[in-house]
Amino acid sequence: MRCIKKACEQAGGWIPFSEFMNITLYEPALGYYSGGLQKFGASGDFITSPEVSAFFGQCLANQLKEVIQNLRNVSAEEVVIIEFGAGSGVLSLDILLELEKLSTLPDKYLVLELSAELQHRQKQPTNQKAPHLYDNVEWLDQLPDGLTNAVVVANEVLDAMPVECFRIPGARDSHQVETLMVAVEGENLVSKYIAVDNVAAEKISSIEQRSEIEFSAGYCSEYNPAIRGWLSALENKIEHSVILLIDYGYNETEYYHPDRTAGTLMCYYQHKAHGDYFWWPGLQDITAFVNFTDVAYGAVDLGLEVSGYTTQAAFLLANGLSELHASQLTDDVQQQIKLSQQIKTLTLPSEMGDRFKVMALTKNYEEPLQGFSMLDLRNRL
Ligand SMILES: C[S@@+](CC[C@H](N)C(=O)[O-])C[C@H]1O[C@@H](n2cnc3c(N)ncnc32)[C@H](O)[C@@H]1O
Repeated sequence: MRCIKKACEQAGGWIPFSEFMNITLYEPALGYYSGGLQKFGASGDFITSPEVSAFFGQCLANQLKEVIQNLRNVSAEEVVIIEFGAGSGVLSLDILLELEKLSTLPDKYLVLELSAELQHRQKQPTNQKAPHLYDNVEWLDQLPDGLTNAVVVANEVLDAMPVECFRIPGARDSHQVETLMVAVEGENLVSKYIAVDNVAAEKISSIEQRSEIEFSAGYCSEYNPAIRGWLSALENKIEHSVILLIDYGYNETEYYHPDRTAGTLMCYYQHKAHGDYFWWPGLQDITAFVNFTDVAYGAVDLGLEVSGYTTQAAFLLANGLSELHASQLTDDVQQQIKLSQQIKTLTLPSEMGDRFKVMALTKNYEEPLQGFSMLDLRNRL
């Protein structure tokens, strides 16, 4: 609260919602992702695919193997994997163990994590369960310059980026989109929509034009103002790249569906979802769905190619999920039920199979990607 108060004072009263969200999630030592609480898994606030099952990392490893081999075929320079926002650290362990089995370890596995506390936790799984691979992994808090060949993995990272909330006012004038602002009054956080932000007006107007959307009066939603800057850094710093983005999200017409009048912003605390973003700042996760059409437009503007877009279920199945399952069949009935349950959670449309999408962006990489061979949804973007 102190940090939010200070930011408001410095801004003369009100700060944009994105700044409030950035403080509550990432303020050093105090933000949700920077503090010491358990966030991932059954004893935390939410469960991500790597926490559901090692199958997730093993399927990803199959995709990474294909890319690493293709990159090595055309260049003698080193090939690195870069994982953004590495959660509990279990995904890097699963990927490295599987790539070792497939004799295709990368030259380096870089983990880019903003939170020092999470970096510390992420070191444990590989250090404890595969110490011989630990030296392959390096933790960084910013992207290094001058990478030649890199495969980027970002699972549930875009949904954790601060968003701007907007509202379409009653009397519509194209310059009068309102954005949500936050202030502190006494000991309370307060918010209101203010028609101040030309950036938001331009953003909304471009969404309306390119996706033929007509927002109705009172419609509320959000957009990610940071995505282009994030992609731009990747585009700038890597010569040959495949960027795999995995997240819950929609294309633009689904995202801004006329019925979704209150947006996609959600807060999570101990597996309970609710909409009160002012509830205990720093103790709960705040997240929003990803607009994959916007990601694609941002990427293409920067000169990246959109090389694949599909559901998580199709991506995992095209990367050998059934074969991995078959290879782990056992007489232990309990174990068998556990594995089947994990596969259902990762792939069923009612669980993570459809809601989660995978998008591949590439730069100077021409080969097809096996993960998108089963279902290609790029025409829906
Ligand atoms: C919802 S968690 C997902 C964790 C993990 N990938 C998983 O699937 O279990 C979001 C993570 O993204 C990280 N993150 C958000 N924005 C980031 C950025 N710009 N660079 C690196 N990490 C970021 C957060 O610090 C956090 O670790």
